Amino acid sequence: MHIAPFGVEIWMNEFETRCEFNLAETCVESLTIAQLLALAGRNSDSLSDLLPLKMTYGAIQGSDRLRDAIAALYERQGREDIVVTHGTIGANALVHQALVSRGDRVISVIPTYQQHYSIPESIGAEVLPLRLRAENAFLPDLAELRGLATPGTRLIAINNPNNPTGALMERAMLEEIAGIARACGAWILCDEVYRGTDQEGGGMTASIADLYEKGISTAGMSKAFSLAGLRLGWVAAPREVIEAVMQHRDYNTISVGVIDDFFAALALENQDKVLARSQAITRGNLAMLAAWVEREPLISWVRPRSGTTALLKYDLDLPSRSFCLDLLQETGVMFTPGSALEMEGHVRIGYANAPEILAAGLERVSAFLARRAGRQ
Ligand SMILES: Cc1ncc(COP(=O)(O)O)c(C=O)c1O
Repeated sequence: MHIAPFGVEIWMNEFETRCEFNLAETCVESLTIAQLLALAGRNSDSLSDLLPLKMTYGAIQGSDRLRDAIAALYERQGREDIVVTHGTIGANALVHQALVSRGDRVISVIPTYQQHYSIPESIGAEVLPLRLRAENAFLPDLAELRGLATPGTRLIAINNPNNPTGALMERAMLEEIAGIARACGAWILCDEVYRGTDQEGGGMTASIADLYEKGISTAGMSKAFSLAGLRLGWVAAPREVIEAVMQHRDYNTISVGVIDDFFAALALENQDKVLARSQAITRGNLAMLAAWVEREPLISWVRPRSGTTALLKYDLDLPSRSFCLDLLQETGVMFTPGSALEMEGHVRIGYANAPEILAAGLERVSAFLARRAGRQ
């Protein structure tokens, strides 16, 4: 089966172990197991809870404890509406495989995580892009969506909060999108892996699974919960979708690791503390980044309202890949080129790492930009 190369993942695989300041990272600064235990009010003695765990496949769909903790992130989901997967990446792949067939019409916002257009394309679906534009604060143009969502549209794939732009769709906009999908009979898959990182309020935006009877939420432990090493995600969806996903999942997952299930449940049972830490990082760091953007004459942006990433537009006559390669070579700072995200003329920064890394990295980027400005 042909599938387009995954631009961002190829870039990350090539350079993320070779940079000094990784400002391409999209996870909120990852936790150690010791930090997780401390946040949960435990210490290393609790590791003895792992000793009686028998290394079977465990509960196939995810443990009841874990699925209850996941369901608690939603307003209207119960254990039966959840299936646990290998990361959000596994959840997304399974939903597309389970719902999309050759010839189906699929609408995907762009930019987004590439799975959402390249997997349906590889299946042979007709994929219609719904471009997110800076002049709309990178929110979808709903009139345009209405025009694309003709009767029989199979799936609308959105991503909220959005990677790479950090745009945030509020409940009212999600409800309007649900109305458009309802009118044409489409499923909505909303990739919600950054849910929990809003810059304002409690941080947790509404989920499509709670708002729309054909709404599917995918998410996981990597970003807002800072536990990418667990490789644990989930699908929250109507039973019909869970059953279709399970049919495919039996062929490529069986179950997730019981140790991963254990730590994910512990983190989610303490979600208030884990998210408070994440929000302290993302909110403090975004303020630092905003002050930096303000000072840089060659950089402009739409300030993110959620997530861990921002798109920076640069006023230099240079392809984004050359920008990023030169930056990496001269300064050790890693960004992600817009060319890997269908956003040429931009670079993506991940700003949710340790504040001192962000500060030091930005200082080097300033020097790089000053040198480039001198040459123009
Ligand atoms: C929008 C989006 N979805 C899914 C993923 C994959 O996440 P996970 O680590 O949970 O598989 C990423 C990772 O960058 C992402 O940005």
